[in-house]
Formats: sequence, structure tokens, C-alpha cells
Amino acid sequence: MKKSVEVLADKEKLIERSLNIILAQIKTAIAQRDQFTLALSGGSTPKPLYEKLAAQELPWEKIHIFWGDERYVAPDHAESNQLMARQAWLDQVPFPAENIHPMPTAGNDPAADAQQYEAELQQFFQVKPGEFPQFDVVLLGMGDDAHTASLFPNTAALTERDHLVTVGDKSGEPRITLTVPTINHARCVMFVVAGENKRPALAQVFADTADDRMYPSRLIQPQGELYWLLDQAAGAEIATTS
Ligand code: 6PG
Repeated sequence: MKKSVEVLADKEKLIERSLNIILAQIKTAIAQRDQFTLALSGGSTPKPLYEKLAAQELPWEKIHIFWGDERYVAPDHAESNQLMARQAWLDQVPFPAENIHPMPTAGNDPAADAQQYEAELQQFFQVKPGEFPQFDVVLLGMGDDAHTASLFPNTAALTERDHLVTVGDKSGEPRITLTVPTINHARCVMFVVAGENKRPALAQVFADTADDRMYPSRLIQPQGELYWLLDQAAGAEIATTS
């Protein structure tokens, strides 16, 4: 694993740096494999990043969009990660419809919908049961409780090691989420974290020892590249890599 930890002066520079890393990853992936696969994070932090991506001239037909997690709501619900990404980016540029792979949330059965997404990933990445897909980039945020995707503290989702996709649990509210091994098989994982409220969780995630079940972002140790991109408000006390 190649780990980079960067603290940017403010959120604007954090988003700019995140954009530049993603554009470089897109260029490399398309040069090497003529395709780029990206799993999106939800929440509020990445919205300006998605808006900047919408302003790029890219080979959209070669880019496939997935999600790292999704709230278990309809795609037109205000809480939907899919809705946010479509409004900020995906519906603003000419992606072929089949290149957008949302997590299903309409079955009224989170476990069945998680299995359906797992089957879709196995099909798209041509992996057999027991194998894990290799996303080019998995984009992640981190909550102030150190959760990432919908891998919340002290939940069963944290220990799922066989499935690609599982049901997350945010205080009883179901989520669909990629599992730890699926995220860790990515070529590149990028955390984009902003805000002073994230400092205490970051201190635990970066501590030499702490409880991984309490601070789930500690579980993200990909075999490929790992970027921790922080703004000064979040990362003031975090040591950066040279
Ligand atoms: C979600 C996200 C989640 C998010 C963190 C940070 O579905 O909410 O995927 O993991 O990244 O909660 O959210 P903010 O960016 O809003 O702080």
C-alpha cells in the first residue's frame, strides 16, 4: 500500500487537489484499460467535487459510476446519494445511461437489494463468487464517528469478509454498502475529509492503536494507493507524508 496524507489550506484547495488526483487516475486507467471505474461517496463533502467534474471534458462513455454506499430511500428522496450525484454531475454531462450503476433501494428488502448489487458487480467486473472486483478509484468520506461508506461503528457490516456488498446500519436505519474487502481491493482509495468536527475521529483513525470496531475508517487499508486528503480544519493535528 502506498499511503499519502495531505492537509490542504482550505476546503476549496482540498476539492481542487481531489479533482486533480481523480483526473490523473482517469487518464491512467483509460490509457491502460480503456475504461475507468469509480465508486462515489455520499454525504455533503463531495458535492463541489462532483460539480467540478461536471465541468470537465472527459470520455464519459469510458467512465463507469458506482456507489460506495446508499441510503435505503427512493432515488428521488432528498437523502439519496444517487440524487445528489446526478444533480451535481451525472445528469449534467452525456454519460451513457448504462454507465451509471446505482445501488438498488426499491425492493423494500435491503438484504436482497445488497445481493442484487453484488451480482451486478460480479457481472460487470467478471469476478466469480469469492473474488473481489478491483475498482480504479473508491472515493470515501468519513463521519465524525469515524464511519466510512455505511460501515458504522460496532455493526455487523464491519466484519463481513465474504460478500462484496452488505447491509449497513446507521442507528437502525438500513443502508447498502460496499464491504471492507471490496473497498480494500481497489487500485486507489481516496478519503476526502473537511471540517473541524472530524478532528477527534481522525485522531483515533491515525492513532497507532485504537479499536477498529469503534473507528471503522481504520479498516480501510487498500492493497493499492491510499490518499487521505484533509482540509486544515480537519487535519491540523495530523502528520502529513512528505
Ligand atoms: C453517506 C456517506 C458517508 C459520508 C460521511 C461524511 O452516505 O453519508 O457515504 O460515509 O461520506 O458520513 O459525510 P459528510 O461529507 O456529509 O460529512
